[in-house]
Amino acid sequence: MVQATPFLLVILLALGAHGISTEKCIMTGCCVNDLGSNMTILNVTEKGDFNGTYYTAVSGTTKKIEESPLLESQQLTNPLNQPTFGFTVHWNFTDSISVFMGQCFMEETQKEVLRTMWLLRLHADKRGDNWNAT
Ligand SMILES: *[C@@H]1O[C@H](CO)[C@@H](O)[C@H](O)[C@H]1NC(C)=O
Ligand SMILES: *[C@@H]1O[C@H](CO)[C@@H](O)[C@H](O)[C@H]1NC(C)=O
Ligand SMILES: *[C@@H]1O[C@H](CO)[C@@H](O)[C@H](O)[C@H]1NC(C)=O
Ligand SMILES: *[C@@H]1O[C@H](CO)[C@@H](O)[C@H](O)[C@H]1NC(C)=O
Repeated sequence: MVQATPFLLVILLALGAHGISTEKCIMTGCCVNDLGSNMTILNVTEKGDFNGTYYTAVSGTTKKIEESPLLESQQLTNPLNQPTFGFTVHWNFTDSISVFMGQCFMEETQKEVLRTMWLLRLHADKRGDNWNAT
């Protein structure tokens, strides 16, 4: 069973995987967050859907951490080219699911920064335990 961590805001800092800076915030590539977790996002389809992998640096379980798949959908364009997005991480070394949502921003340094919030859903053995599983 995974324990919930006491914070909800995770800041993901892009590693500059996109080379030349542009005004548009592009999410494909690799990002790390302030805890050292990293994720890799594969190519975005014309509909704004994509997938990738998430490697968490933190876990409440004693099970060995494994890279886990994620599925994502984002808005394609908006006037600021800083799209909103959401993704689900299917932890494949435990029985939990996480959902993230956020927006991709361009910093003044022309670096992509993802501002996100997330919820972690733990497995409840019975309905009576549902109240504290999220
Ligand atoms: C992601 O994190 C894992 C575990 O810390 C590490 O082994 C891997 O090299 C990292 N990958 C990237 C692209 O930073
Ligand atoms: C992403 O698209 C680029 C350019 O279209 C292509 O070169 C690359 O192989 C694609 N990567 C994946 C993982 O599909
Ligand atoms: C994930 O994306 C890659 C390339 O972008 C594609 O080849 C693959 O079929 C996708 N997998 C899923 C499960 O959507
Ligand atoms: C977990 O997901 C990763 C990334 O998609 C994959 O490489 C790995 O084989 C999966 N492991 C299991 C046990 O499903």
